Order: sequence, then structure tokens, then C-alpha cells
Amino acid sequence: MKIFKNKLSITMIFASALLIQACTTPSNKSGYDPVIEAKVDSVLSLMTLDEKIGQLTLYTSDMDQTGAFLRPEYKEDIRAGEVGAIFNAYGAEYTRELQEMAVNETRLGIPLLFGYDVVHGHRTIFPMPLAEASSWDLDMMEETARVAAREATAEGLHWTFAPMVDVSREPRWGRIVEGSGEDPYLGALIGAAKVRGFQGDDLRDLHTMAATAKHFAAYGAAKAGRDYHTTDMSDRELREVYLPPFKAAIDAGVVSIMTSFNDLNGVPATANEYLFRDILREEWEFKGFVVTDYTAIMELLYHGVAEDPAHASELAIKAGIDMSMQDGFYHQNLAQLVEEDRISERLINEATKNVLRIKFQLGLFDDPFRYSDVDRQKAEVMKDEHLEIAKKMAKRSVILLKNDDQTLPLSKNIQTVAVIGPMADNQRDMIGSWSAAGDWSKSVSLLEGLKNKLPDVNFVYAKGAETTGDDRSGFREALRIARNADAIILAIGENYWMSGEAASKVDISLPGVQEELALEIEKLGKPTIAVLMNGRPLTINTLDEKMDAILEAWYLGTTTGDALADILFGDYNPSGKLPVTFPAHLGQVPIHYDMKNTGRPMDPNQKYTSKYIDAPNEPLYVFGYGLSYTTFDYGALSLSSTTMTQSDSIDVSIEVRNTGKYAGEEVVQLYIQDKVGSVTRPVKELKGFEKIHLESGETKVVVFTITNDDLKFYRKNMTYGSEAGEFVVYVGGNSRDVQSMEFELLE
Ligand code: GLC
Repeated sequence: MKIFKNKLSITMIFASALLIQACTTPSNKSGYDPVIEAKVDSVLSLMTLDEKIGQLTLYTSDMDQTGAFLRPEYKEDIRAGEVGAIFNAYGAEYTRELQEMAVNETRLGIPLLFGYDVVHGHRTIFPMPLAEASSWDLDMMEETARVAAREATAEGLHWTFAPMVDVSREPRWGRIVEGSGEDPYLGALIGAAKVRGFQGDDLRDLHTMAATAKHFAAYGAAKAGRDYHTTDMSDRELREVYLPPFKAAIDAGVVSIMTSFNDLNGVPATANEYLFRDILREEWEFKGFVVTDYTAIMELLYHGVAEDPAHASELAIKAGIDMSMQDGFYHQNLAQLVEEDRISERLINEATKNVLRIKFQLGLFDDPFRYSDVDRQKAEVMKDEHLEIAKKMAKRSVILLKNDDQTLPLSKNIQTVAVIGPMADNQRDMIGSWSAAGDWSKSVSLLEGLKNKLPDVNFVYAKGAETTGDDRSGFREALRIARNADAIILAIGENYWMSGEAASKVDISLPGVQEELALEIEKLGKPTIAVLMNGRPLTINTLDEKMDAILEAWYLGTTTGDALADILFGDYNPSGKLPVTFPAHLGQVPIHYDMKNTGRPMDPNQKYTSKYIDAPNEPLYVFGYGLSYTTFDYGALSLSSTTMTQSDSIDVSIEVRNTGKYAGEEVVQLYIQDKVGSVTRPVKELKGFEKIHLESGETKVVVFTITNDDLKFYRKNMTYGSEAGEFVVYVGGNSRDVQSMEFELLE
């Protein structure tokens, strides 16, 4: 396959690469493949300054839009060799068309990189990330990323802007739905699992794609939960809460990092040398490449740290940002900065190499069209196997929040069920935001799923209310069908657009008049099950009080209705656990399980203690909470020793018994508290979990091993390590209902 037109064949390029390699010592940069480095150096040596800058420029096609600004002339840019990557373009034919422009119409024919937000599926849409996190099933979360990559690469894509690994304790922030919740430990394990799923063991494999850990960093800490807002925190908070998932993604081999929109401690991420040079490159030795978020270099002007586009570009390239997304600032300014000697061409060479390297790793120089294969596209997309995996993930992502008097599961012999609410006969919201190439018309609504499963049951539907406004005219019909039903399923929540990007809210109660509808229906005194579909924790105190049962379903993706029908009628016993705290009142926010004790710990009976006098002090539902159709009994905790040194470990064992009549799964959680530290420490921190399956009556012993690594933190002098002293280990089925024992770390 001829790659380069001007008498430069691929063999000449690689011959020169091997010549360079033979004449130089193999790349002494640990972690780089010397063969690829020689090829990268070889191509770089042929490039003009403008061609290098072209590689540092990413534009969106007009196939999808994920930001405010478009650039209609992106095809001309490709032909002019001024673009290195295109996003929001997929499909074997379209990617081939664009790739042919780059390969056949530019001087060097360097292939394009095609990126897209394949966040929770490409065509087959899986549950939103916050829903998947509720499964606490790392293997399944890796599996869905693997399937997403199979479908995306079958449609010409090389690179996904996922996983989003932003920790957030802010339910007002719409993007909390895109992440894995409030805990850095769980978020780190999930981020690593997603990277393994997308990238596999070999990026040259046609079924794997480059992943991107985003948004670096601390984007989820936006002040007041307002998207894109300022973040400001201690280095300790940054490193203990917001950085661990990024480090885990990098340790798992993620090849790209995306900058975040926010300013962190006064410096916007996209100009932040501390983040991208000191931490990412020096401390963590990241070997991949850095891409900005949408027009983020241009936004340095709005942040007020850059005087003009050239200054903004100078700040970004000096901070170690390799590729500019959509604003074209590198395209328009970098050459001038070199000519004016404001930056060295060395910076541009470094960034260009970071981009060329991934193209070699993906095999694009061998065959730029290898991912644009019509036959593979037809064979791979939305095949039954993928839909089965989606349904399995969806079922495992649902959390049973309440189930009074075993209201659930419903009997399959039931005669009539009223299915009410704006989320019931709804296909679009099921696939949530960031649904990539997902076709919502193929998603299974709750109503359809119920009818699919039990055609002989009389499911009667009424919308009852919208998700917005105060129109109550639908109540009458809803109440009428409810009166004639044996049970009522109330499907309520938020539309997908009420969370996600640029969707922060000051009110996290159930929107519209849905709660009023629920209360009217509850007055009928019939078994009433609320199925919540929402993109953030909601203050559903009234539902918690009045409903007989509540399922938190988030947005479950293409197979929503089929998954929920299995759960509602007992063919799957819900096993999800909350990855994020549900506040009892918005005024409690931020509220999360791993708070500090304070000098006056909350005591409702003592005046001078840290508490609210006008609202509850406990959350509505705690982190890690989730019920089952069965019950689990925890036996006594036992420790292999009550002391350990930094070089040994303690085994923590606990018996868990299924004391109910259904088989089920339980996420057994291990938390640790450092009772005394050189700085204040959280009252507990998640340090382990295991999701176990137990038949009715079955008992299993779960064993966790505590090592010194589990006890490390950023000490008073900001060194990372453990400190001798007393610790408490907690084990239970959530972060509140736990058993505890103490142990000591010896000097
Ligand atoms: C958006 C999002 C980012 C996404 C990018 C490209 O603004 O912040 O998560 O990957 O643009 O679509």
C-alpha cells in the first residue's frame, strides 16, 4: 500500500527509519518501542513546520455536534495537510472518504486519526457510566468497553474520548452521570477496567481502540456544581480524591488524556504546567498524548490568562498540550510563535511525535483504511451477542432502594398492571446522553419490555404527567387505570438532557409534577413501584416515604425494558449498590461517605456539634447502599492479626449468609479508618469490595487482605505513605451498616 506520493514509498520511510535506528542507540526512553520511535523520527524528519502543526490539529466533521463551534471547511483543511485528526465522523464509507483525502491528496499522506465519544457504547448502547458503576462489576464494565470498541472500530473509528474518570460529589453537576460517582478507589478501578476494555492488549488489533482518560483534572469539583466553573482545592484534596482514577487509567496503559475546561487553583487546565508537565509527564511518566477539550485553548482568552490567540497557544504548547480540539489555535498561531522565537520548534516536534506514535501503534501507516471495512461493519454492529451483554449489564446496574413487604418481585400471574409516567413508553431517554451512534428508535422502552416478557398480563399505560411544567390534566386517566389495576409501576425521573454536559441544576428534586402524580396514585393504596430514570442523585424523600418499592435504573441503554421486566418479575434479583450518596436535602451538598470527623462530630442531641438545625444530617441513601429480594446476614469479623508492619498484611474474613428465599448477589465492602494521622483523615475509606453470588441458605467466607498500600495517604509534609497507629476496619453491605474491628500498624 503506497502511503507517500512523492516517490517516497513506505519501504523508503522505514528503510530510513531502520537506518536512523542503526545509527542511534535505541530510544533510551523507558516505555517507548524503539522500532516505532525510529519510524516516528523518520517521518518527523521529512515534515515541514506546517505539516507538523497540522498533526496537532483536531476538527469535528459535520456528522455530529458536541460543542458550540463548527468549522465547515474541515475537508479543505484535510486536503491542505492541516489536520491530523477528525472527530464525530464514523462509518466505513465516510471515514474511508476522508482518509483518502489525507493519504492521497497531501504531500506526505500521513493518515488521519478518527475519534468519537464512544462513552457507553457505539451502536449497542450500554447503561450510562454512573449506572454501570452501580453494578460494582469490573469484569462486566471491561466487557462493555470491549464490545463498544468492536463496534466503533468496525465503523472506522480509532480513538474514543472515554473513560470519563472525573470523581464528583456534586449532584447539581450534570456530568456526574458520565462518571463513576464519588469515590476515588471505585473510580480508579472502573477507569482501569474501561481502558483495558477499549484498548485490549494490542492497539494494532482491529477490534481495539485508543482510549482517553478525561477530563484532567478536577472537573467534577466545579464550584456550586455549575458546569465549567472554577475549581480550587489543596494539593492534598487534588491528589487524594481527583487524581487517583487518572493514575489508574495511565497504569492501565491509556494512550491519551483530555484537558478539562475548568481552571484549577487559578490556572486553567489547558495551560497548567503543574498538571501536564510536573505530574503527568515527570511524576507519572505518561507516554501518550494530550488533547484539549472542545475549543479549550481559545477559552484561555475567556479565563483571562491569555491576551490573544497567539498567547493562548503559547501557554498551551508550553504546558505540554499536544493537540488542539476544534479552535484551530495551533493551526493559526504556532508557526508565528516559532518565527518570533517565542517557542522552540522542539516543543512542536515533541507534540508531533506524540501524535505520530499513536498512529503507528494503531497500524495506520501500514494500512490507513484497515478500520474502514464495510463488510466488517455489517457483521459487527448490534449483533445479538452484544445486545445480550447489554441486557446483562443493564440488569446488574439497577439498585433496589426500597421494597416494603416484598412488594417486588411481582407475580407473573398478576392480571392487570398500570404502567404510568413519562419514562414508561419512552425510547429516547433510555440511551441517555453521549449516546454516540446509538439509535434510540431501537431501544426497548419499559412498557415494551413488560409486554415482550408477559404477553398475557394486561399492561395498561398512561403517561400521567410530563417531566416538566405543571400540567396535571393527565392525572385523571392515570388514576383511572390505576384504580383498575392490581399493581402500579410508576416510571418517572429526568429526561436525558437534564444531565450530562452543560446541564447543571439548582433543584435536584423530581422535576415537574411527577411527585404529585406519585402521591395521588399512592392514595389508592395499591402496590406502587417507582422506577427512577435519572442522571444524578435526587432528593426523593417523599417517594422513599410513600412508595412500596423503588428501583434506581438511571439510563440503562438499548435493552432497558427487557432488563427491567426481568427484575420486576423476579427473573433477576437486583444487585446494584449506590456509587454516589443521595442527599436528604440539597442543602447538605456536598455530602459523601468519606467526610472528616471534625472537632465537634455531629450529635443531634448536643447543641454545639456540627449539624444542621433545619434539615436531616444523614443522607437519604448512603454510598454503597442497595437492597436485594433476599436478605444477607453478616457473621462476625475476624482478623488474622490485630497488628501488622509495613511489610506484612492482615487478612480480614467475614461470613456472609443468604437468609432469604431468593438467590442473589451482594457487594461486600471493606472500609478502613485511620484513627490518628498527622492530618485529619476521613471517617472511613473504601479499600476493597467483592460481589458474591449466594443461593438461598448458602454461606460464603469473604477474605480481604489489608496491606501497607491500603494505609497510605498524603501526610502533613505531603509525602505519600502510611503512619504507625490504630486503624479500624469496617465490613458490610454499604458504607453505614458495617461491623468493625481495630488493628495497629506498628512502627
Ligand atoms: C465536549 C466534552 C468532552 C468531549 C468533547 C468532544 O465538550 O467536554 O467530554 O469528549 O467535547 O466531543
